[in-house]
Amino acid sequence: MAVIAQKNPHIKVTVVDINEQRIVAWNDEDLDKLPVYEPGLADVVAEARGRNLFFSTDVDGAIKGAEMIFISVNTPTKTYGVGKGQAADLKFVELCARQIAKVAEDDKIVVEKSTLPVRTAQSIKRIFDATNGGVKFQVLSNPEFLAEGTAIDDLHNADRILIGGDIETDEGNAAIESLVKVYEGWIPSERILTTRVWSSELSKLTANAFLAQRISSINSISALCEKTGADVDEVAHAIGQDSRIGPKFLRSSVGFGGSCFQKDILNLVYLCLHFGLPEVADYWEQVVKMNDYQKYRFGKNIIDSLFNTVSGKKIAFMGWAFKKDTNDTRESAAIYVADELLQDQAEIHVYDPRVCKEQIEKDLIYLWTQQGELEEHARFRVNDLVHVHADPYDAVQHAHAIAILTEWDEFVSYDWEKIYGAMQKPAFLFDGRNILDAEKLREIGFEVKSIGKG
Ligand code: UDX
Repeated sequence: MAVIAQKNPHIKVTVVDINEQRIVAWNDEDLDKLPVYEPGLADVVAEARGRNLFFSTDVDGAIKGAEMIFISVNTPTKTYGVGKGQAADLKFVELCARQIAKVAEDDKIVVEKSTLPVRTAQSIKRIFDATNGGVKFQVLSNPEFLAEGTAIDDLHNADRILIGGDIETDEGNAAIESLVKVYEGWIPSERILTTRVWSSELSKLTANAFLAQRISSINSISALCEKTGADVDEVAHAIGQDSRIGPKFLRSSVGFGGSCFQKDILNLVYLCLHFGLPEVADYWEQVVKMNDYQKYRFGKNIIDSLFNTVSGKKIAFMGWAFKKDTNDTRESAAIYVADELLQDQAEIHVYDPRVCKEQIEKDLIYLWTQQGELEEHARFRVNDLVHVHADPYDAVQHAHAIAILTEWDEFVSYDWEKIYGAMQKPAFLFDGRNILDAEKLREIGFEVKSIGKG
């Protein structure tokens, strides 16, 4: 919404949230205090805030005043009841829809920005039509394809904008046209695609499933490379030169994380099962299973290499975020690798340039309580065995091994001789992102294991 406001100074954009603290942070004079860390975002907010971009907790007032409303709430995987562990939890979307229906006094265009399963727009429309007879609603689907860490650039130079709507009616087409105009503020028209609403909803799930599938595919080959002595980076480069395959998204890693890939694939799996397509469901579920296997394999490799146990050993984690240039840790591979090592009684010392101690602790406590552990016990284990450092050189003091979990650029320029000097010997390094020069590290004395290298 900040970019929409930046590029359309004539449109007033109001971002509302029921979380007062978050709105206060969005309004903070100090742009370092914005609730989301995203390169370039502070400049965009600085340009538009107070001009045509506003942050407020007055949800009802904003609904009344708006011609177009974007629903941008989260749609996590359901953790209870029917579809538990797979289906998208649409509770927050439904609550938004009900509130809009209750408060609206004139016709509105409602845009689904949250990623939703196919045919959700229809459910939202039913709520509107049943709740507020006097007002007409048009529901559009406008999925977001930006990636974290590169969000501003992805928005400024979007490959495509997708708008789904009721293309069979004049009202539907008029609504689509209004949203097209918003994006034409900076996106060339040929990159703005319009489709049926269900195609748009399904395209978002499919795009994420295809992207994640590429990572799981190359990660599956990384396991074979480690057995055979092939080099996964060479294989990725060689196949990426085929223009039909293309070079992007073939970086083998400790496993993909983030709030989207796993959730959207599980959602796709649930939809396939719901529509009686178990073979299709199994096919896509394998992408998530392969990702789980990759995380497990990485942790197991650490344990095996450290003479079959990490009990009482100090393992330094470099990185906790699910990728570089973000403070987001949702579904980060680091959480699962830490869990595996902690089960083997390791002591974990974490350094991440952007993720705070509270978040790291919260991630583990959440995982363990979800697995049935009592919160008090989970908290005790975290306090006992997980240490978070503000300085990477502190995190590696007397460490038996270092694991690289996030591809932060700064890791490459560290003084690795100094780090080697501070560690227990033999000093192991497990590069879960293949960002370091393994040969150089070996010359220093490290035992290095990279992903997909025999
Ligand atoms: C993703 C999609 O890219 C984006 O289009 C969608 O809108 C939201 O989901 P995001 O999760 O922010 O974006 O980041 P992305 O760059 O896609 O990375 C996801 C995960 O895959 C990260 O953990 C990343 O490290 C990993 N990854 C990515 C790899 O392991 N290898 C790769 O080659 C690329």
